[in-house]
Amino acid sequence: MYLVLISTHGLIRSHSLELGRDSDNGGQIKYVVELARALAQHPEIDQVDLLTRQIFDPKVDQDYAHPFDMLSEKARIVRIPCGPKRYLRKEVLWPYLGTFVDRALKHIREVGRVPDIIHSHYADAGYVGAHLASLLGVPLVHTGHSLGRDKLHRLKNQGMKVDTIESRYNISQRIEAEEYTLDVAARVIASTQQEVAEQYALYDNYQPESMSVIHPGVELSQFKPPGRITPKPPFRKELERFLLKPNKPMILALARPDIRKNAKTLVTAFGEHAELRDIANLVVLVGNRENAQSWDKEQMDVFSELLLLIDKYNLYGHVAYPKEHQPNDVSGLYQLATRSRGVFVNPALTEPFGLTIIEAAASGLPVIATENGGPVEILANCKNGLLIDPHDADKLGETLYLALSNQKRWQRWSKNGIAGAHKHYTWKGHAQRYVKDIKKLLSKSKKTKRIGLVKSRMPTIDRLVICDIDNTLIGDRSGLSQLLRRIKNSNTNIGFGVATGRHLESALQAIKEWNIPQPDLLITSVGTNVHYGERLIFDASWARHIHYRWDAQKAKKLMKEFDDLLPQPKISQNPYKISYFVDNKRPPRLREISTYLRQHDIHANLIYSHGAYLDILPMRASKGNAVRFVADKWGIPVDKILVAGDSGNDEDMLVGDTLGVVVGNYSPELKKLQNRPRVYFATNKYAHGILEGMEHYKFFEPQIITHEPA
Ligand code: GLC
Ligand code: MG
Repeated sequence: MYLVLISTHGLIRSHSLELGRDSDNGGQIKYVVELARALAQHPEIDQVDLLTRQIFDPKVDQDYAHPFDMLSEKARIVRIPCGPKRYLRKEVLWPYLGTFVDRALKHIREVGRVPDIIHSHYADAGYVGAHLASLLGVPLVHTGHSLGRDKLHRLKNQGMKVDTIESRYNISQRIEAEEYTLDVAARVIASTQQEVAEQYALYDNYQPESMSVIHPGVELSQFKPPGRITPKPPFRKELERFLLKPNKPMILALARPDIRKNAKTLVTAFGEHAELRDIANLVVLVGNRENAQSWDKEQMDVFSELLLLIDKYNLYGHVAYPKEHQPNDVSGLYQLATRSRGVFVNPALTEPFGLTIIEAAASGLPVIATENGGPVEILANCKNGLLIDPHDADKLGETLYLALSNQKRWQRWSKNGIAGAHKHYTWKGHAQRYVKDIKKLLSKSKKTKRIGLVKSRMPTIDRLVICDIDNTLIGDRSGLSQLLRRIKNSNTNIGFGVATGRHLESALQAIKEWNIPQPDLLITSVGTNVHYGERLIFDASWARHIHYRWDAQKAKKLMKEFDDLLPQPKISQNPYKISYFVDNKRPPRLREISTYLRQHDIHANLIYSHGAYLDILPMRASKGNAVRFVADKWGIPVDKILVAGDSGNDEDMLVGDTLGVVVGNYSPELKKLQNRPRVYFATNKYAHGILEGMEHYKFFEPQIITHEPA
């Protein structure tokens, strides 16, 4: 399998992640890098590409500018240019994500293989992944990491005004992207059951049956039980400043100053239980306080309440709350606690996952933890301790006392924890569960092929033929069947497209009537719409592209000035195509119309065909522009695209670098192209003419002839 992971924001590289640099460089950055590496280790995975944004900015390291960065033999970071070159925070990336989609398609084309899975991380990458997955016909897997609706609720509860939330976090755009992502995603991978039940449940597109809980792996290499000869960690000195008898069993808690971490109940439990105080010390790491003056009110309240409780129960000499610690002190602390035959305690009101519990377990330290959230599953897996009700201080004190009093059980818990952490919480285990889950998903989507996914051929074709429908592709049945047979039997990998003035339904009808296989590409309504493949995936970025400087209402109004033009029926009109019938004998005054429109600030493309039709389109829309847009988007060289047509609306796709073929039965308005380079006028008519043109350019040979034969 070939997997494409997408994580657009933050700073991602193969070494020394800058975690904590800003709010865009948190757990997700570490998660995606470790996930990519772990998946690439799996025997059933050939290649993992982790796509992120390319950044050129003197304010950040040059590493982030390199297009490729190897993570391991089979995994790499691929940096995709999108929007401004500088480092941008995730809230302002939205306008540039469409470009990310198109550049990612080019990358996939360069790889030459359509991925089996696209896995997006967070809302911004979800937006990109959903588009990519649709365009490629590949299942999307999504991991939210955190969710906009949940954040919105929390900020509202904290009293922040909706306007402020909106301007600071662009939250509605994020939520919209999340809904859209969930719409497209075949699978959502969550870290915990609680995330599914409490956070994803807030979404319109909540589909618990397509969600899998696969908890993240934990990098356990630095968390080991203390060996007999391991030197005592230096952090011990810090604790000795607080404790009368530092060798007593240690009750250890790591709790940011956050009400939800509930350190208060723990100190109360310890204070209230005289025997517990006798046999144990309490060690609470309440954040790093080098800068506690700048803490917000909530953090201050939590900390001062703690100090007051220590004072109330007169715990001096029995409780340590060191001012600062370094990240690598933590593993030493677990070891000290294990060595003292202590326990780790997490009394949080709710704990989403419980990373520290797993670290403690791997260090051989038994665990007493909240019954709300992640710990339930961890303790069920590891059997290394007990769950408690975080609101019941008395019970907590008693549980801690019993846990420290039974040596045999302590030994068993310690052993179980070490084994369980390695058995259930490694990235290797994560990758195994992941691959199993994905394989189930893929076989399901194969079985339901009718409604399921058919991979796009666009990234793997090496040349493309695009034909006008009326009077070109259709009109002569024997020529058509010869052409289709020739394409089907060719050794080269030819993509097949149509480009027509008809609207989509009408084009599909003609295709059906003439027994033409479903094209890989459909350019319809004179280039105003682009769709792909079996599932008719709409190209939204083309629609955005042609919207430029277009005002359909105004254009329509202005056109009333030319009352000799007869509007075509409603079905032939669309927001980017205003079409008329014209009288053969009185050709429209094209110059006059376009001048008039321009004077009124309407910038249109006027297309006159067969002496009978006039189309007014946005200036960026035409069959030819659509062909070039598709070529650029998918990375197909324009001179590997053969186009065939018969009339005026084909003109701009016939000229230029494309391999143009005008069929023998062409309309007079194309006569002027006769001496243009790379516009071949076939003698044969209809599809016979297309075939003749293909032979002319040696389109079926390994080397196409792109020069004019002398
Ligand atoms: C097709 C379309 C028509 C258009 C014409 C020329 O006949 O149905 O709307 O004007 O092509 O582009
Ligand atoms: Mg035609």
